Amino acid sequence: MQTGINYSDKIPNNVNLSEDKTLQRALEHWQPNYLSWWNDMGPEGAMQHDVYLRTAVSVDPGGWAQFGHVKMPDYRWGIFMNPKEEGRTIGFGEHKGEAAWQDVPGEHRANLRRIIVTQGDTEPASVEQQRHLGLTAPSMYDLRNLFQINVEEGRHLWAMVYLLHKHFGRDGREEADALLGRNSGDADNPRILGAFNEKTPDWLAFFMFTYFTDRDGKFQLCALAESAFDPLARTTKFMLTEEAHHMFVGESGISRVVARTAAVMNELKTDDPAKIRAAGVIDLETVQRYLNFHYSVTIDLFGADESSNAAIFYNSGLKGRFEETKRADDHQLQGQTYGVLAVQNDTLVERQVPMLNGLNEVLRDDYIKDSVGGVGRWNKVLEKAGISFRLSVPHKAFNRKIGMLAGVKISPDGRVLSEVEFAANEKHWLPSAEDRAFVASLMHRVVEPGKFANWIAPPVMGINRQLVDFDYVRFN
Ligand SMILES: [Fe+2]
Ligand SMILES: [Fe+2]
Repeated sequence: MQTGINYSDKIPNNVNLSEDKTLQRALEHWQPNYLSWWNDMGPEGAMQHDVYLRTAVSVDPGGWAQFGHVKMPDYRWGIFMNPKEEGRTIGFGEHKGEAAWQDVPGEHRANLRRIIVTQGDTEPASVEQQRHLGLTAPSMYDLRNLFQINVEEGRHLWAMVYLLHKHFGRDGREEADALLGRNSGDADNPRILGAFNEKTPDWLAFFMFTYFTDRDGKFQLCALAESAFDPLARTTKFMLTEEAHHMFVGESGISRVVARTAAVMNELKTDDPAKIRAAGVIDLETVQRYLNFHYSVTIDLFGADESSNAAIFYNSGLKGRFEETKRADDHQLQGQTYGVLAVQNDTLVERQVPMLNGLNEVLRDDYIKDSVGGVGRWNKVLEKAGISFRLSVPHKAFNRKIGMLAGVKISPDGRVLSEVEFAANEKHWLPSAEDRAFVASLMHRVVEPGKFANWIAPPVMGINRQLVDFDYVRFN
């Protein structure tokens, strides 16, 4: 298995694409449709810019990234997989210990296709959600990071489309076309999952999205990286290396917002949101409300708390748990139970369900543990600045739209409320139209090298050891 990438093919790849002419032709037929989707739905007004982007040149750890200025439509999107592990066996479920599958078993075809399509659909969706953000970038550095994320989400779509074309015949080709047909927020033909039809209207939303929602991506990809279907496992492992940068952009972005607000609070010696806003920075209460929104919408992505599909996916080896192979249990989970939340007599109670049926909740809880870490690091920024305000994630039952908790009104601290009580407090807990209008009022394009919008601090360092005032984007 080669790990170097063949860039002489029309579609860069490390999967020996030229050996399968039919597949190569089918993908070369999809490629112009992808490019026209990119031109229509990708970053607005930015196709002629030369952007300092990284491109994968090999899947070897540490050796895969090459940086240079390229126009985004010329980005070499391709098909990259981690090398095959000889003798890999299935790590969980009823086929545990058997050889991993190199092809799709007939009985799991429909479920695997559904899993791949659902993952694939999120990738172009986020590009669509983010397409206007370049017009209000707070700096050239941030603009470059946005575009990097966008081209990599485009590549993640390629990763899923390759699997559909190679392993699912005609159905797969039709699904690949449909991935370019649905659009985020479209009334008639929306993206599959709720969070991917929400708007990402401003940069605070973008940083929250890349911190929280790209992290959902990480957990889904980690679960798929355990799959018995080896090509899916190898593809998602490589996608994870790209995903890390997306979460970095979110974490460091919020950190810089918080740092800038804290500096202004100290300068003005105030914690009055009105005064802080008047100084042109985002008050911490608004940051908290955005956090509440993005966190709750994102944890819904893990699906219903109790799910027979989750049990089937696990039992049959399609989708494992986060870090499945590092866990010390029997990897079959028969007869075990897991706690999920329900409302009883106006209080939240934990109910035990068969663990196999509770695997969405298991993954959600692993996600929650991971996402709390960054919130703690944002609070360190406040602590260091001598500000007493602390950010926190809301209760996991807050603002849920999926599963047992859908429709129940819960406060961020986990109390069951009446509709009336919730409505009376909603503006303190979730971004109001007025909050969003205020944040939008700060969004002006700042793109001179080394300059930053007033509401955000500069980063500690540049990209790929370049200086912060490097010309990351050359405008044409
Ligand atoms: Fe992605
Ligand atoms: Fe991502």
